[in-house]
Amino acid sequence: MVKRLLIVAHAPSPNTLALREAAERGASHSDIENVKVTVKAPLEAGPDDVLNCDAILLGTTENLGYMSGALKDFFDRSYYPVLEEKRGLPCALYIRAGLDGTGTRRSVESIVTGLR
Ligand SMILES: Cc1cc2nc3c(=O)[nH]c(=O)nc-3n(C[C@H](O)[C@H](O)[C@H](O)COP(=O)(O)O)c2cc1C
Repeated sequence: MVKRLLIVAHAPSPNTLALREAAERGASHSDIENVKVTVKAPLEAGPDDVLNCDAILLGTTENLGYMSGALKDFFDRSYYPVLEEKRGLPCALYIRAGLDGTGTRRSVESIVTGLR
């Protein structure tokens, strides 16, 4: 059975776009069978995308020591519509940070912990 991986990643620069494309390329590698990959920018993604996936990879820059506003907006719009439906959804995160990314990681982890 085909599993659906949703990549929701903010890519405001050539560097972060290359990062997102690398994630997509890796997830679409021929060694990986039966995985359909969908890539969306956070402002284009919403709760329906989450409801229709089997796993999610989040990507963000570190902005002011936090996740990007675009990814936060995605969570703001998606949180309650997916809360009851998607508990246990496998989730991974990458961060592009010039510093250590700690605040960004904490901000995303606290939301996905709330979503379980
Ligand atoms: C409003 C704003 C705040 C930012 N704050 C941080 C920050 O706290 N830490 C950091 O490492 N980079 C910060 N950045 C830089 C972004 O992470 C950067 O734009 C992103 O990593 C893309 O840069 P790159 O193309 O060099 O990867 C900030 C950028 C913006 C626009």
